[in-house]
Amino acid sequence: MNAKITATAHYVPERVMTNFELEKLVETSDEWIRTRTGISQRHIAAENEATSDLSTKVANSLLEKRGIPAEEIDIIIVCTVTPDHFAPSTAALVQNNIGATNAWGFDLSGACTGFLYGLETGSKFINSGKYQKVMVIGVDTMSSILDFTDRDTCVLFGDGAGGAILEPTESGSGIFDSILHMDGSGGHFLHVPGGGSRMPATVESVQAKQHYIRQDGKKVFKFAVKGMADVSERILKQNNLTGDDIALFIPHQANKRIIDAAANRCNIPAEKVLINIDFYGNTTAGTIPIGMNEAVEDGRIKDGDIILLAAFGAGFTWGSILMRWDAS
Ligand code: ACO
Repeated sequence: MNAKITATAHYVPERVMTNFELEKLVETSDEWIRTRTGISQRHIAAENEATSDLSTKVANSLLEKRGIPAEEIDIIIVCTVTPDHFAPSTAALVQNNIGATNAWGFDLSGACTGFLYGLETGSKFINSGKYQKVMVIGVDTMSSILDFTDRDTCVLFGDGAGGAILEPTESGSGIFDSILHMDGSGGHFLHVPGGGSRMPATVESVQAKQHYIRQDGKKVFKFAVKGMADVSERILKQNNLTGDDIALFIPHQANKRIIDAAANRCNIPAEKVLINIDFYGNTTAGTIPIGMNEAVEDGRIKDGDIILLAAFGAGFTWGSILMRWDAS
């Protein structure tokens, strides 16, 4: 029993922050950001808007689009590295907000690969035959861990959420292969040092800005190009597919140059590659489900299409997923 996606949705906060605004905060330029990353603007959450708020908007939209009451949801998986709290989970907050009284669920920390980890996990619950409807949300409020005086990181990220409902299918469509990886030896290249049990918050840790995301951009870039290209190429090969067979490639949106490298390696032409990094920046676990929903709404995905997803992120984590679309 495969799992297929029967509804998609996304939400981004109202406030748009352009590169020109960032020029006033750090030593950077619109030209540098656009040419090095492909980003022109990003959405930033309002002061009173947290990850569960973004997620709840997506969850309600998913229910409306699928035309089902919240009581039918069996499991809620919220993929995020920026939860509202350590406890309770963001999934529990969403469950309560939407009134999913029959659901259980949890948060999943896979960084930029979070949504792929979530789809894999959710689809295994469907495969088991025990669960009929799993809601997977990829969401991050990156502005909550961004240091807006650090140009190495603050120009790259944005806030946003997307999600999908997974259900069983016997038709052979849906998710049919996945390759997922993790290599913790790269953890220190992209991390948030403070706030956890290793370095609980103190006045000193806050003053030293230990609760913000830090990265060695060059190192991450190198690993991301190789990781995302390798895993995309490999999943096609092991399914006897080529770039020609793919209707749409939806890659994680970290840097347009990383995406181009992966698409080139797989011989996927530019018109089959979803790129929306210009408008949203890197929303971490949000990028792939946001792109997927935009593609569905724009009619870029049709039933029968083979869709390739690929991501790379902190951990390091990376992976790819292949599915045959069947929303009917
Ligand atoms: N504005 C202006 N100049 C900048 C900025 C900035 N925001 N940031 C760095 N520079 C400068 C550097 O100091 C350097 O100056 P120098 O030549 O005088 O030393 C110059 O620009 C070039 O810097 P590089 O680091 O070589 O620039 P690069 O082309 O590698 O791009 C970037 C940097 C965009 C961070 C890139 O390495 C990247 O995208 N890395 C991946 C990081 C990432 O996406 N992480 C997010 C999570 S992981 C993921 O999602 C894959």
